[in-house]
Amino acid sequence: MKILSGTETSKEIKEELKKEVLNLKSMNIEPTLAVILVGDDPASAVYVRNKQRTCTELGFQSIERKMPEDTKQEDLLAVVKELNDDPAVNGILCQVPLPPQCNEQEVIQAILPEKDVDCFHPYNYGLLAAGIPKFMPCTPFGVLQILKRYGYETKGKNVVIIGRSNIVGRPLSILMSLKEWNATVTVCHSQTAKLAEVCRSADILISAIGIPNFVQAHYVKKGAVVIDVGINRVHDPSHPKGSRLVGDVDFEAIKDLAEAATPVPGGVGPMTIAMLMYNTINAARFQEGLEKFEL
Ligand code: GUN
Repeated sequence: MKILSGTETSKEIKEELKKEVLNLKSMNIEPTLAVILVGDDPASAVYVRNKQRTCTELGFQSIERKMPEDTKQEDLLAVVKELNDDPAVNGILCQVPLPPQCNEQEVIQAILPEKDVDCFHPYNYGLLAAGIPKFMPCTPFGVLQILKRYGYETKGKNVVIIGRSNIVGRPLSILMSLKEWNATVTVCHSQTAKLAEVCRSADILISAIGIPNFVQAHYVKKGAVVIDVGINRVHDPSHPKGSRLVGDVDFEAIKDLAEAATPVPGGVGPMTIAMLMYNTINAARFQEGLEKFEL
């Protein structure tokens, strides 16, 4: 089974983005990403740190707004407004999930659509559903870039996606059904009947459900390409931290069946961050009246 490395693919893409950052800087444009982190969820803190590190690596300006766990909705909205009003800020990302007293949808909708580099705002979601996306949803577009750069065509393929979340499953199903990708897409969820049988019909099987070892051998057709979007922390006393990250796919169980698969870690995760940087470059370009930079 071939390993589809998101670490390697994201490196390749980041090199392309670095060149574009230099090009923008030669026009006195400096891409700037603002990240809002509310509370002390350790996983969110790791994601945000990785995003900041990648900003530095690519030559972006980055702004971080850390807010306490008991932040009130109005105070969060005030920070969003301040970043909306700052012309130096091209992209705004508010890390989710938010603490329970905050209203996630209200925050997402408060971010100006032209700064919504997550592509979470209903306006950008609508453009995507209409087949005219401006920003690309980061994780779904990361999946498409891995497939493309390893030479796996989606045209005419049966794609089965496990999971219908707003961040991954649903936007990925929309993208793959567009003319540019031409896949035949099935979206599965907790109420899907004969799930394993449906998954076995997939030429490309994508799991975004968040349950360790969910995808077993009987879910995978011989020769299928398997994309594991899950990032699950499991208890492991043999590990220095007492835990480790695993995906949704039982990698050992599928290794003699699948033609190729993405590992966890080092698969889709690093792609998401690269795509966020890509969207931030385009946010800066659009705000300067320039056309879309294509990957
Ligand atoms: N939490 C997990 N993934 C993401 C993401 O891509 N963007 C934001 N804002 N929060 C997340």
